[in-house]
Amino acid sequence: MNERKTLYADSEGQLIIGGCRATELAKEFGTPLYVFDEAYIRSMMRVYKNTLDEYYDGYGNVLYASKAFSCEAVYRIAASENIGCDAVSGGELYTALKAGFDAAHIYMHGNNKLYNELEEAVSAGVGGIVLDSVSEAQALDEICARSGKVQDVLIRINPGIEAHTHAFVQTARTDSKFGFSISDGSALEVIEQVLILKHIRLKGYHCHIGSQIFEKQSFVLAAEKMMNFISDIKSKTGFEATVLNMGGGFGIYYTDDDPKLKENDYASYLKALIDCVKHKAEELSLKRPYLLIEPGRSIVGESGITLYTVGTIKDIPGIKKYIAVDGGMFEAPRYALYQSKYCAVNAADVNAPATQVVSIAGKCCESGDLVAADVKLSDVKSGDILAVFSTGAYHYSMASNYNRNLIPAAVLVNEGKADIIVKRQDYEDIVRNDVVPERLK
Ligand code: LLP
Repeated sequence: MNERKTLYADSEGQLIIGGCRATELAKEFGTPLYVFDEAYIRSMMRVYKNTLDEYYDGYGNVLYASKAFSCEAVYRIAASENIGCDAVSGGELYTALKAGFDAAHIYMHGNNKLYNELEEAVSAGVGGIVLDSVSEAQALDEICARSGKVQDVLIRINPGIEAHTHAFVQTARTDSKFGFSISDGSALEVIEQVLILKHIRLKGYHCHIGSQIFEKQSFVLAAEKMMNFISDIKSKTGFEATVLNMGGGFGIYYTDDDPKLKENDYASYLKALIDCVKHKAEELSLKRPYLLIEPGRSIVGESGITLYTVGTIKDIPGIKKYIAVDGGMFEAPRYALYQSKYCAVNAADVNAPATQVVSIAGKCCESGDLVAADVKLSDVKSGDILAVFSTGAYHYSMASNYNRNLIPAAVLVNEGKADIIVKRQDYEDIVRNDVVPERLK
C-alpha cells in the first residue's frame, strides 16, 4: 500500500483508513464495501487546483472526470473544493445537477452523445460541450437555435500521441473512435464547419491522450502539439482558441510495478504541462489559453479500498491457490477487463509477512472472475477481512448486476467518522425493472 496520514496500520496491525478501523467498517456496514477516504480526495483536488493557481495565475480549472466515480456525494466534494467536473452521459449530468453542482462548471463529453443528452446539457446551461462529430455539432446548433441559446463548445482533437503507463507512442494517424486527427486534416475541416454555425461558439480544443500515465514527457508533448495546432489554425482560419483542455490520465499506484507518487509529484506533472503551454504561447505569440485538466483516477483511485470477507479457500497443490471473496467482477471488473493488478492485505493484520501468492476469486459463475491474480498475501482464513487497495476509480462506476449480484455500499470516511454515500442494493432493487407480461402469468 502507498501509506499516508490517512491510510496506515496502527500499533496492533489493524488497517486504518480515514481514522476508521477497516475491520470495524466491515462489521458495521457489511462486505463487500467500497471505502473512500475524503481527505485524500480533497487533497488531490487541491493539488491540481493550487498548482493552477500558483503557476498559471488561476487562469484555468480542474474538471473532476466523474466517470471514475460518480455519486452525489463526490460532486458535493468537488463543488466545495471549487472545481468543475466532466460528465459523459445524461446519467452523470443528472447526478451532478441533483447534487446541486453549478452547471456552468460542467463540461459534457462523449463520442456519441444522444440527442436528448445534448438537449439536457443545453437546458441545464453547461459550461461547455466537447464536440466529437460534425453531425453532433449540427444537432447541437439546431437545439440551441430552438431554445434561443448560444452554447460554448470545444472540439476534441487527436494529437497523435497515445500514452500507456510508462511509454507513449506518436502516431501520424490514429484509429481511435475519439476526436479528430490533426495530421490527416480532419480537425481543420471540422473547425471550419463549426465556425460557420450560428448557435454554437467555438472556444477551443480538448485532447486526452490516455489513462494511467506516468511519463511526464507525454503530457508535455501533447501540450506542445496542441499549442502548435492552435497557432496553425489561427494562421489558416483566423480563429485563435482561448480554451485548452488537456484531459486527464495521471497514473496511480496499484502495485510495485507502479511508482508511489505523492502530492508533489502530481503537482510537478501539471507544472511541466503548464510550463510548456506558457513557453509555447510566448514562442508562437499566442494568448495564454484558459487551461482545463480532467483528472479522474488520480483524484479518487487511491482514496478507495474495497473490503471483502474471505469465503472458501481452494488450494490446487503446485498449481494455484484461490481465496474466494464475497465480491467479484460485478463490483471489481478491472481484472476481468484488463487483467489489472492489485495489492491486498488482511485488514486485521497488515504487517503479517506475505507468505503466499494467491488469486483472489470472485463469486461469479465465470472462471475469469478474479478480483486480482498473483497477489502476495499473508496467511488468511475464511471469515477474515481482506482489503484491496486503489479501488476508488472505475470500480463502483463500472459495477453491474451480473449474476444478479448486489452492488455494494460505499462509505466515506474522514477523521474517524464513516457515512454511507451509496446504499447497498437489495433484492428488490434487482427486480425493480422486471416486468412479467399478462400472458406469462
Ligand atoms: N477525460 C476524458 C475525455 C477521458 O476519456 C478520461 C478517461 C478522463 C478524462 C479521465 O482519465 P483519468 O484521469 O481517470 O485517467 N475504465 C478504465 C479507464 C478508462 C478511462 C477513460 N477515459 C480503467 O479502469 O482503467
